[in-house]
Amino acid sequence: MNEISEHDIIVVGGGAAGLRAAIAAVQTDPGLDVAIVSKVYPMRSHTVSAEGGAAAVIKPNDSLDEHIDDTISGSDWLADQDVVEAFVREAPHELIQLEHWGCPWSREADGSIAVRPFGGMKIERTWFAADKVGFHLLHTLFQTSLKFETIKRYDEWYGTKLLVENGRCQGIVAIELRSGQVRALVANAVILCTGGAGRIYPFTTNGAIKTGDGMAMAYRAGVPLKDMEFVQYHPTGLPGTGILITEAARGEGGILVNKDGYRYLQDYGLGPPEPWPRLRAMELGPRDKLSQAFVHETRKGRTFAGPYGDYVHLDVRHLGEEKINTKIPFVRELAHRYVGIDPVHEPIPVRPVVHYMMGGVHTDVSGATPVPGLYAAGEAACVSINGANRLGSNSLTECLVFGARAGRHAAAFAAQRPPRDRAALVAQARDEAQRVAANFIRKDTGAERVAALRAEMTRAMEEGTGIYRDEASLRKTCDVLRALRDRFPNIRLDDRSLSFNTELITALELDFMLDVAEAVAHSALARTESRGSHQRTDHPRRDDSRFLKHTLAYRTDTAPRIDYLDVVITRWPPAERVYGR
Ligand code: FUM
Repeated sequence: MNEISEHDIIVVGGGAAGLRAAIAAVQTDPGLDVAIVSKVYPMRSHTVSAEGGAAAVIKPNDSLDEHIDDTISGSDWLADQDVVEAFVREAPHELIQLEHWGCPWSREADGSIAVRPFGGMKIERTWFAADKVGFHLLHTLFQTSLKFETIKRYDEWYGTKLLVENGRCQGIVAIELRSGQVRALVANAVILCTGGAGRIYPFTTNGAIKTGDGMAMAYRAGVPLKDMEFVQYHPTGLPGTGILITEAARGEGGILVNKDGYRYLQDYGLGPPEPWPRLRAMELGPRDKLSQAFVHETRKGRTFAGPYGDYVHLDVRHLGEEKINTKIPFVRELAHRYVGIDPVHEPIPVRPVVHYMMGGVHTDVSGATPVPGLYAAGEAACVSINGANRLGSNSLTECLVFGARAGRHAAAFAAQRPPRDRAALVAQARDEAQRVAANFIRKDTGAERVAALRAEMTRAMEEGTGIYRDEASLRKTCDVLRALRDRFPNIRLDDRSLSFNTELITALELDFMLDVAEAVAHSALARTESRGSHQRTDHPRRDDSRFLKHTLAYRTDTAPRIDYLDVVITRWPPAERVYGR
């Protein structure tokens, strides 16, 4: 058995950020050998499920400053403004680059790139390929990555631990799912592109693979998780499954109505319903405010009651069949398959659903973490452009811009070829293999079950760290999570096999999720203000005097240690967020 494989760079994760990082690294230095390690085949990464689009300035009526301004106000002034400026400046180049690699962006009649409005934007700037953007974008990146012989892949390998030796990240330990073999995958630089952790909640748009693995591995290696209290609820998920009904449905003119057929958003500071559509108003307001409005409508008894909780109606009937089929065909398909209705003739039942983590692994503008040799990009990272609330369609672009940046910077770092202590790295991997075997595969004692602990965790997260929070609910969630952490060592698996032991992987994922969940709950408890997606009923105002700061959560043997870092303000001083005018 080969205990060690050596590369120059290891990218963990094969979605948009990971593939973009790998391509950037080999283009920066064609002499580098880059490995992509992914727990799923890359085309099954969660990027594939993205629907509505990717934002970048392209039209003459738009400007970089407008995109920056929308992003910063959308973030409730918690984004680092130097980072947002870099992001917005590089965004058009990235989307044009994808076009050149073959991404079939939708077009206007004159052949120019088509854009659609998304929530929180003053000007339309969301590029799209109908409403299957993630599929096309991921396919484009994947097929491009295949052109480079120096990009190797470890498909269906699950990373369990970062190899940190002499204060430097030098690889990961990973399990090959097919054989159960544990190996040290060693490199001069590692880039974490493992996505978010929506699965710490019970109701999410996120695929089952989004379990915060990279976040937790970095956290265990001493890197803080930044701004974890900011969890985005997307206003329009299908009840029951949580499947996303894209914001593009509203961008194309869809409206939200309560059980009385009333466009309730007009009651929540998001403007009058007419004239329609207006940017940054009503259904094109930001996600945090739309999801909060839903909670108020529910409390007023103005939502529908269903078997999977309350819901409202997203109505696109007035768009007509031709437009629905051209611009949002996937919305029609999903509504038909998962709730049995045809949106051409009936409104779609929708409710807020956990969609995205604004927080993540603390990085600088190049994707570098405080541990030399360790980088992160995409939803796994907090760089930070999203602050307290991300604007829809900034995230695919973020994967590209910061995936590329992390790839380039990791390439420069890796090219220095710092010395490695192979024996120490192999010893660490052996210890890790031993840990996995002793704690899970060979363990005969213990009565706790993965599914039961996971259900308790997700319930606690929903009850304590949902759209509205307060001290009592947060404390209770923190206590439940600590109790689950204490019970976790008593877990027992039924499956002792080595090949595709999915029970083992779900146990390792739960272990990671418990870390991430604690970081979310404790960061939220410590932030005694309301900002963007973090709404404290006991502290209902934004408090810039104390909290114009990023939260940094550090892992300890007990509760996370919370610290703060100033937000970078350049040209956009904090102001009130105004929508609907
Ligand atoms: O609604 C959507 O299509 C989601 C887009 C995003 O989260 O950026």
